[in-house]
Amino acid sequence: MKFKRFFVKSFLNKNDSVKNKIRILIFLYLEASILINIQMPSYSLKINGKSVTVEADADTPLLWVLRDELDMVGTKFGCGIAQCGACTVHVGDIAMRSCSLQISTIEGESITTIEGLSEDGTHPVQEAWKEIDVPQCGYCQAGQIMTASAFLKNNPNPSKEEIRQAMHGNICRCASYNRIEKAVELAAKNS
Ligand code: FES
Ligand code: FES
Repeated sequence: MKFKRFFVKSFLNKNDSVKNKIRILIFLYLEASILINIQMPSYSLKINGKSVTVEADADTPLLWVLRDELDMVGTKFGCGIAQCGACTVHVGDIAMRSCSLQISTIEGESITTIEGLSEDGTHPVQEAWKEIDVPQCGYCQAGQIMTASAFLKNNPNPSKEEIRQAMHGNICRCASYNRIEKAVELAAKNS
């Protein structure tokens, strides 16, 4: 602060040279630009039916915003490069990988995470998962459920092959694939 006062006084001082005044103007201009640049942009989203505004760099992945800013840790980090499906959420009705969705590209979108799929864990896919006892370690399962629920919304009566195709991009290191397929079949039947 003292530093700034010195510059302002010096700028108003009639005896100070023009050169010096120009230097001061450049300094103040640079300082103002830095301040403007470090202000984070803010983005509005609708997450699980609630409007939220988050401040983040434009290229921040939605996954980081969910987990680190909003404390919604049901969506998991796996690979970080859109290859495993652990971070799957719904954007509108489409299953998408939140690790690769930059916050600036989804402003105003309606996002559903595993926390918002149903109020009490009774979505038909969640019920089927419980009945078939799908999870082993559980790490991939939020992503599996989000992929399955978006798929069944768009294709309520899928064939076994269609289920396999829809789910094949979601990796499960515990290899619960057979149970996942059975649970998707059951959810389709019960929906
Ligand atoms: S963490 Fe996003 S696809 Fe693997
Ligand atoms: S249940 Fe362990 S990774 Fe899928």
